[in-house]
Amino acid sequence: MMSLKVWKYVLSILILFGIISLLYNIAIGKNWNYNTVSVLDEVQTWSRSSRLSERLLTFQQYHTYCPHLAKPLSLEDEVEERKLLNSIIWPQLPSGSAPPSLLQTSDPVHSRFTIVTSKIKPSWYVGDQLEVQIQLRDFKGQPKRYGGDLLLARLHSPKYEAGVAGQVLDHENGLYTVRFPLLWEGSAQVDVMMVHSSEAIAVLRRLRDHRLDRVRFTSTFRQGDQSEKMMCHICLPPEPGPICNFTDVRTGEPWYCYKPKMLSCDTRYNHAMGGYAIDLLTDEETLLFQNGKNVKVPIQASTMDTINVLPSSKGTANLPTDTSAFYFLIHIIVLVINVDKGSQKPDPVKLATSGYYYQGSWRPLDGVPMGQFNDSSAITQCLTNKSVYLYGDSTMRQWYEYFSSMLPDLKKFYLGKPIKLGPFLAVDTKHNMLLWYRIHGPPMRTQWVMSNDLRYIANELDGLTGSRDTVVALSIWAHFTTLPVEVYINRLRDIRKAVVRLLNRAPGTLVVIRTANPQSLEQDVSLYNSDWFSLQQDMVLRAMFKGLNVRFVDAWQMVVAHHEPHNLHPLRPIVKTMVDMMLSYICPHRSSNNVGI
Ligand SMILES: *[C@@H]1O[C@H](CO)[C@@H](O)[C@H](O)[C@H]1NC(C)=O
Ligand SMILES: *[C@@H]1O[C@H](CO)[C@@H](O)[C@H](O)[C@H]1NC(C)=O
Ligand SMILES: *[C@@H]1O[C@H](CO)[C@@H](O)[C@H](O)[C@H]1NC(C)=O
Repeated sequence: MMSLKVWKYVLSILILFGIISLLYNIAIGKNWNYNTVSVLDEVQTWSRSSRLSERLLTFQQYHTYCPHLAKPLSLEDEVEERKLLNSIIWPQLPSGSAPPSLLQTSDPVHSRFTIVTSKIKPSWYVGDQLEVQIQLRDFKGQPKRYGGDLLLARLHSPKYEAGVAGQVLDHENGLYTVRFPLLWEGSAQVDVMMVHSSEAIAVLRRLRDHRLDRVRFTSTFRQGDQSEKMMCHICLPPEPGPICNFTDVRTGEPWYCYKPKMLSCDTRYNHAMGGYAIDLLTDEETLLFQNGKNVKVPIQASTMDTINVLPSSKGTANLPTDTSAFYFLIHIIVLVINVDKGSQKPDPVKLATSGYYYQGSWRPLDGVPMGQFNDSSAITQCLTNKSVYLYGDSTMRQWYEYFSSMLPDLKKFYLGKPIKLGPFLAVDTKHNMLLWYRIHGPPMRTQWVMSNDLRYIANELDGLTGSRDTVVALSIWAHFTTLPVEVYINRLRDIRKAVVRLLNRAPGTLVVIRTANPQSLEQDVSLYNSDWFSLQQDMVLRAMFKGLNVRFVDAWQMVVAHHEPHNLHPLRPIVKTMVDMMLSYICPHRSSNNVGI
């Protein structure tokens, strides 16, 4: 039995933490009515952290890709890499059990979502948050008992051409919570989709970490009328050796080809994708990747999927009410628990809502005024005297193509290069405007490209002087989905160093980073391009460039929130949204003010 004295002591600590927490919440302007949510959040985070160390171990064990060819990391880089990998830890299947049969895997058709209603506050207002619970079930209709499924959700109103992406929280017991900020009034409908079951993701994880050979690359070596085609990759098995080392001297980015039998290494002529490996799955595993059955299938509502949002009730939301006293107490208790556990608490990756569509146009939530650049004169006016350098994959080439189609005065140079790969150059001498596109360095899953056209973005950036009139846009993700995340981290690290150097010598230079986006996963596309690969990379990308003076174009949310189907190359309205976002960064003074909240 504890004495009264001890209880008094405990109580005063509780009250002290309560006051601190209250002040903290007020200071950061947290909406008090959401404390139910924040309590859940903290309990969730805490229960995750207890399993963190266990997962850390599994990560360290698989750090095995091409150890004989990888360059050693500095201590600082290794620490960062570990931190990044920890931040994207994805729930694993329960260990020890036999591989589940299809019947025991997540079935979107049997699963349901439920809009969470509150007796205390039966209506929704603009400025509130909508919460949706999802219960996943297997093909027999049994509730799932573990998490790790990939779900995407959006809230939308066709009538207002409005949409916003939901934030999905995995409770790791078959239940998921999705939260949506309520940003417009009127009726709004919830859409939830299961992209992959957790069982499918376990397979994808194995492929990503152990089968980087599932996309093959080749180079032709040529001299006179002799030519040999050899296999190439960021790393190659030691057999059948020997190898040619094409590692980039400046960045240290690895690239190797098997040495041709007759020719020497310096006769490498071109680079191309050599095909996809097809022996990737067992028969059982194949069942986890069925279109229309368990890849990108909608989950239905248990009852209603639509709510009505009322105009915001200003002034009532920010003070603690009697009903929240109970949650206040829980909050204090959670805080006390967290003080104890605080040192272990991981940084959960949270992708805050970056914007939403309303009346068909994107409204960023980070305070950047969004402009509309609907015609050539608006774009030309913004880009007068500017040099715009676009680097990256075909999702960046889309921006170049958009500009080309919108600007009739732009003179496009034909540089005699492959039609899809560039590089591309266009100028408008009247307005002193230059547009340049170049694809990033290997690995590129492309048709043949000359070896001497293989350039790493970091080196290209080092070749730019930069200025107030220089704009750099980067999009690098789609060709990395078949490789372990470490490879992507390494590439981004090189690019980040080059961005830091550029911003150091020319602080006025604008650097815009386009994130990844979900895509159509027809047939076997998941095995090479799954949204799960892209999402994990995307979180790394955002984390690595956070805090730098760069701007993001959130292609991920722009696609999730939009009514157009997911597509590797988003359709034109979304490309316009992305380009408008970039132009708004270049010409903020031209932008109209944000409407909405
Ligand atoms: C390949 O070349 C790079 C840079 O010259 C070097 O650092 C690396 O050790 C070489 N790799 C092998 C396996 O020899
Ligand atoms: C641009 O086009 C959109 C969609 O058609 C329209 O809503 C908007 O008013 C236009 N903005 C300007 C500045 O012309
Ligand atoms: C473009 O540069 C020229 C020459 O420096 C200058 O006269 C002009 O005002 C600039 N125009 C814009 C829109 O920045």
